[in-house]
Amino acid sequence: MEKERILSPVDIIVSQSDLDGFIIYANPIFYKIAGYNYGELIGENHNIIRHNDMPRIIFKLLWDALKQKKEVSCLVKNRCKEGGFYWVFAYIRPSINQDGTVRNYISTRRAASKKAKSIIEPLYKQLLETEKEYGMELANEQFKQFIDINRYGEQSDNEVIYNIQY
Ligand SMILES: Cc1cc2nc3c(=O)[nH]c(=O)nc-3n(C[C@H](O)[C@H](O)[C@H](O)COP(=O)(O)O)c2cc1C
Repeated sequence: MEKERILSPVDIIVSQSDLDGFIIYANPIFYKIAGYNYGELIGENHNIIRHNDMPRIIFKLLWDALKQKKEVSCLVKNRCKEGGFYWVFAYIRPSINQDGTVRNYISTRRAASKKAKSIIEPLYKQLLETEKEYGMELANEQFKQFIDINRYGEQSDNEVIYNIQY
């Protein structure tokens, strides 16, 4: 059984990446929870902490939003270097230069709530199965349906995820 590591409610994981997701800055809490030595993550792609339980569609939607210079909130299960995992509620946004081009991306993450994990874990299991059996397009439809079912009024997708977290 993989061991879950729980972030303290006051901890915030921060990282900054280049336009391809390669890490250019990570704060000490990031190293600590992911089980790396200080400095070890610089130059690595963020997928170094990718957990196999994560559906591909979640990262596709993340990158689609960032490429459109939009911010994105998502719930992510990450893996630790020596095994184990931790869940986060992530908010990722592009940092924009004065000329409108994207300088880099910044992610801030806090512990995913128990409520969020109880809702998202079965959903991701289902999405992963759909991806394996039928491909990512159907998983995309399933995720959209999930968002729509949980949407109140005019909420954006990010607001729906926020409401699942809190
Ligand atoms: C700022 C930023 C933060 C990211 N944080 C994570 C993360 O915490 N966990 C993760 O698995 N992927 C994260 N990603 C996405 C990864 O770059 C990558 O797309 C994802 O892990 C899927 O990897 P793969 O396409 O090699 O399968 C982040 C990307 C950016 C730009």
